[in-house]
Amino acid sequence: MNQAKQTSAGLGTGRPIGLIDSGVGGLTVLHECLISLPGEDFLYLGDSGHFPYGTKSREELRQRTADVTRYMLDRGVSLLVVACNSATAAAADSITELAAGEGVDTVTVIGPEAEIAASISDSGRIGVLATPATVSSGAYRKALEGLGRPLEVTEVEAPDLASIIQRGQPFDDEVLDTVRGYCRPLREARVDTLILGCTHYPLVAPMLQRLLGRDVRLVSAGHAIAAVVQRTLAGSGNLAPGDREGGYHFLVTGEVDSFVELGTRFLQLPLVGRVERVDVP
Ligand code: DGL
Repeated sequence: MNQAKQTSAGLGTGRPIGLIDSGVGGLTVLHECLISLPGEDFLYLGDSGHFPYGTKSREELRQRTADVTRYMLDRGVSLLVVACNSATAAAADSITELAAGEGVDTVTVIGPEAEIAASISDSGRIGVLATPATVSSGAYRKALEGLGRPLEVTEVEAPDLASIIQRGQPFDDEVLDTVRGYCRPLREARVDTLILGCTHYPLVAPMLQRLLGRDVRLVSAGHAIAAVVQRTLAGSGNLAPGDREGGYHFLVTGEVDSFVELGTRFLQLPLVGRVERVDVP
């Protein structure tokens, strides 16, 4: 079924920019895109029915992201932003190839944060906090090593952190202790820059900053990705006119109500009436 011409509440009749993530994490990227590109329309898919991605195997992630990519191409997106590090780490090449087959450009995370971190770190001691899928892929290490600067990279897996954030419940001392445990090796390694290697993590930046200390710089993908999207659209002459206010719409494969509640809190924008439950087989 080709739904390319289907429009959704909150969107105009043009082709929207698509973003994909396993849940609410990609909203940290959408947030920056909404600010940098206020005239564009956005269609966000939160694959919350298949959350978490970060503990899935590479093969599972390649299969699932292929299905999700095909679905977004069928919905007629003009550009695809992979707003998920685990998906990028496991399947950036196959997602990009699939989208290119339909003439759609892809923007992925990991590379932009690695570049920022390498350029702002004074000591060259960089930490990466990410899901098991991302750490085991070695994608950050590879990206950092390719930047031509000697760096000491400390990677830490945080198997529970995305789930804690996705649950949306008030943080308690147990959560604080879990996050403290993730920060310990980063403190011991005396990193001066930490890559938040999962798009969920900027949502707990204040907690991480307190546990690591004010001097550690936290690097996340959102701002850099929004700039790449802007350059890509400008390069193809597809930037929306400056006087237009774009729309945004959400697709979720899991529960709608919790997504509306969390998304409204994180984006500080109304989501009611803009979230649609979909099946992505
Ligand atoms: N937000 C995602 C990432 O950047 C995935 C988190 C998860 O589903 O485990 O890795």
